[in-house]
Amino acid sequence: MKMDSQKQVELAGQPHLDRQRVPHHVAIIMDGNGRWAQSRHLPRVAGHQQGMQTVKKVTIAASDLGIKVLTLYAFSTENWKRPTAEVKFLMQLPIRFFNTFVPDLVAHNVRVMVMGDTAKLPDGTQNAVQGALDATKNCTGMILNFALNYGSRDEIVRATQKIAKQVAAGALAPEAITEEFISQEMMTASLGQFADPEVIIRTSGEERLSNFMLWQAAYSEFVFVDEHWPDFDGESLKQALAVFQSRHRRFGGLKNK
Ligand code: FPP
Repeated sequence: MKMDSQKQVELAGQPHLDRQRVPHHVAIIMDGNGRWAQSRHLPRVAGHQQGMQTVKKVTIAASDLGIKVLTLYAFSTENWKRPTAEVKFLMQLPIRFFNTFVPDLVAHNVRVMVMGDTAKLPDGTQNAVQGALDATKNCTGMILNFALNYGSRDEIVRATQKIAKQVAAGALAPEAITEEFISQEMMTASLGQFADPEVIIRTSGEERLSNFMLWQAAYSEFVFVDEHWPDFDGESLKQALAVFQSRHRRFGGLKNK
């Protein structure tokens, strides 16, 4: 991908990516679509439309880097509070995305997965998601994990209810509820050893988690970038991962060597 000169100037003197040490699981809070559009005097949904193109670019870039899991926060349990027309548009995006992009995903050996309360999505959206899950189920490369109608507190409530039912039925001793046991009840359980993202990137300069992967983020590094999501690209991803690599992860210990 050719970088524009503005980006080359911005990246001068920034850390470089070591391709031998790319994180296995990268999660992204794709923020700033609305502001990107408004700054161009466009309707907010134009930002979401452009954001979808960014999803395509970043998916291929992440797959090319050898990332194992790319989780993208596409729609939160709180996003239903937005105006009806915007919610409707956001619900159409997975349909448009999968209708046009599944062949590219298969060509790059990318497997689609989803986490969230997808049963509450409109039928057309659910069908598109199911079609993508089916079409890519034999792909063995990167997992593209969409958080769709996902909320971390909702995830934790559901896990707790399931565990409490087992205890109430006498099938589980409270002492058997370990961290590993709880992880198995989370929506990331199917990601196995890659369930926890090493790095969470948020675009648009906002610095908060917004109900995203609260359990899984216990030891994640956070990288906040100023670009709005529609401006983010493969170079931005590499730059964010280089920042991640420059951190010293200690996991509560004293050093990471
Ligand atoms: C946050 O920006 C973005 C969203 C709530 C939607 C994210 C969705 C996409 C990027 C497209 C998803 C694509 C697929 C394939 C599902 P915002 O609207 O909150 O921006 P703002 O903070 O500037 O208003």
